[in-house]
Amino acid sequence: MELKRFSNRCPCRLLLWLCLLCVVSTIVVVTLVKSPTDTMVSVQALLPALQANALRSLDCPPPLTSDQIAFDITDVMSGRATLKQDDPKLIERIRSQYLDPPSLHPYRLTVGDDPSQGQSAAVREIMGNFRDGFFVECGALDGETRSNSLVFEKTLGWRGLLVEGDPKNYDLILKKNRKAWTTNACLSTKPYPHSVMFQQQFNLGKISSDDVDSPSKKAGETEVQCLPIYSLLVALNVTTVHYFSLDVEGVELEVLKTIPWDKVDIKTLSVEFVHGVWSKPDLKRYMEQQGYWTYKEVSQSNGWANDFIFVKNDFKKREDVLRDALTQTKSLH
Ligand SMILES: *[C@@H]1O[C@H](CO)[C@@H](O)[C@H](O)[C@H]1NC(C)=O
Repeated sequence: MELKRFSNRCPCRLLLWLCLLCVVSTIVVVTLVKSPTDTMVSVQALLPALQANALRSLDCPPPLTSDQIAFDITDVMSGRATLKQDDPKLIERIRSQYLDPPSLHPYRLTVGDDPSQGQSAAVREIMGNFRDGFFVECGALDGETRSNSLVFEKTLGWRGLLVEGDPKNYDLILKKNRKAWTTNACLSTKPYPHSVMFQQQFNLGKISSDDVDSPSKKAGETEVQCLPIYSLLVALNVTTVHYFSLDVEGVELEVLKTIPWDKVDIKTLSVEFVHGVWSKPDLKRYMEQQGYWTYKEVSQSNGWANDFIFVKNDFKKREDVLRDALTQTKSLH
């Protein structure tokens, strides 16, 4: 267990050297401007004193584990202190407070089997009729409107996790009796839990830039806990995700960057690309660096779909997807 504040690198040592560097360069600049001839002398005179000071402060405390220090989980959840994404204390907290189990009751849906706007169809072209997979969908909205995951759960028996930050939308999800785990959280945009202000706007709801600690709260905004997707998966004992649907109104790339790609096996993703401060090529490049290729872009003129479909290289290659699609078409005739 390792707290960021007490990392092995001893941040105080690093800070100290940075300070030292600042002080020395300021002195050099100032003295150079004032009297160039005296510069070397004054720096030389100062250095021993500075070094002595530095050495005195160098006896940083050895790195502590969370068993050794007074440990406040609320600081971890707010992001003031950080634990590893799979730290047992964090995982225990997520299991006990942030995960609601799949419903045992019949569905209460008003949509058909596949209300998705093309993303799920594209993923099915890759997955075929693969059964018993695992999906993650974020934002899950009300659990049915344009849901990308419903068809996998309902017709192919997949298990999954629905992630929705807006508490109002989350209440709607619970009423649908989805057979997936659900969590009323946003996905972290940093590799640790943190809380954010969240703009509640049904399908356009998103993380706001407003400070959680600001005394004046804006109307329509509420504080929401963000959790790293990897921590959620560890809490569910899941290491393989067959489809990750990511639509979080602009912070998709930030969420993707929190993922330890060597620890989870995500086969396919649909990722919305329109609202970010990054560009479509930025997103594509990042995913290529993680070992993915882009199957297609799913777009709808009404704006309900603006997604890339990514496939893991070592899961399926383009030619395999095209060959399978051909066999599927033939078998239909
Ligand atoms: C995950 O594994 C732990 C330990 O084996 C178990 O207690 C827990 O119920 C499992 N959780 C899920 C969601 O399968």
